[in-house]
Amino acid sequence: MSNQRPAAAADSTTALRMRGAAVEVGGEVLWRDVDLSVEAGQFVAILGANGAGKSTLVKAVLGLVQLASGEVEVLGSPAGQANRDIGYLPQRRTFDSSVRVRGVDVVRLGLDGDRWGFTLPWGKNAKRAREIVRQVIDVVGASSYAQRPIGQISGGEQQRLLIAQALVRKPKMLILDEPLDSLDLPNQSAIAALIKRVCQEQGVTVLMVAHDVNPILPYLDQVVYLAGGAVMCGTPAEVITSEKLTTLYKSPVEVLRASDGRLVVVGEPEAPAHHGDRHAHVHGSHA
Ligand SMILES: Nc1ncnc2c1ncn2[C@@H]1O[C@H](COP(=O)(O)OP(=O)(O)OP(=O)(O)O)[C@@H](O)[C@H]1O
Ligand SMILES: [Mg+2]
Repeated sequence: MSNQRPAAAADSTTALRMRGAAVEVGGEVLWRDVDLSVEAGQFVAILGANGAGKSTLVKAVLGLVQLASGEVEVLGSPAGQANRDIGYLPQRRTFDSSVRVRGVDVVRLGLDGDRWGFTLPWGKNAKRAREIVRQVIDVVGASSYAQRPIGQISGGEQQRLLIAQALVRKPKMLILDEPLDSLDLPNQSAIAALIKRVCQEQGVTVLMVAHDVNPILPYLDQVVYLAGGAVMCGTPAEVITSEKLTTLYKSPVEVLRASDGRLVVVGEPEAPAHHGDRHAHVHGSHA
């Protein structure tokens, strides 16, 4: 990609590499044989049904979950060692309506002066800090509600401010666990477009767990599909085919090409358990 950070060392454009990675939970293999290589500035989605192990995969990247076998290298170091350079949004964050702290202050909490070249005392840099926070809020399109108490704005608006909080840390990598969860389809698309722009303009590598590939598909450089302990990684064109997804899910999945060339995945299965809170999936007429 043309807007990546300049390479400091021969291998520095590889942001994430997993080799033969496997994780066990409760003594059973959750997934295995993950071979993934992500270049700096790529936007990667991690997909799969509830319980497939998506959150566990990002926790393994953060070094919060140990591998049963294989290796994970993140930003040139073993998992866990470069977490200072990673902005992480865990799954399911909402603010109770009684939370009075303003959105802008939530974003400000993410600001780490060192990263922007600030020197102490912090107070002297208050104006610059305010300006940085303002710019990041502008990037995520949250300016019109950032002054309001975060508990009193919508779930989607909260998500944008949380993405701003992660971005204001100036991370090299962003790990977002289902940031689109409470968003309607147009907003899922808008946030994916925004994330893509951050990848391109700032060279930030993004791993995003998502539930529905369709609204974000045009923006993705790679997809990682998890199902039944197996994993498929690659570009959308490589992985998102009827044959591959049907094999992975062991049930019929159809990939259609719309008249404008977009791919549409139809009939992607859901896990039977605890997904009643999710929006309905598109199902093919045969499903
Ligand atoms: N610490 C743990 N101990 C035991 N089992 C665990 C642990 N962490 C996760 N699991 C199990 O591993 C499986 C995968 O969990 P994970 O949270 O990674 O799934 P997910 O794909 O993120 O699902 P969702 O879409 O619901 O968020 C689940 O069955 C979960 O119960
Ligand atoms: Mg999860």
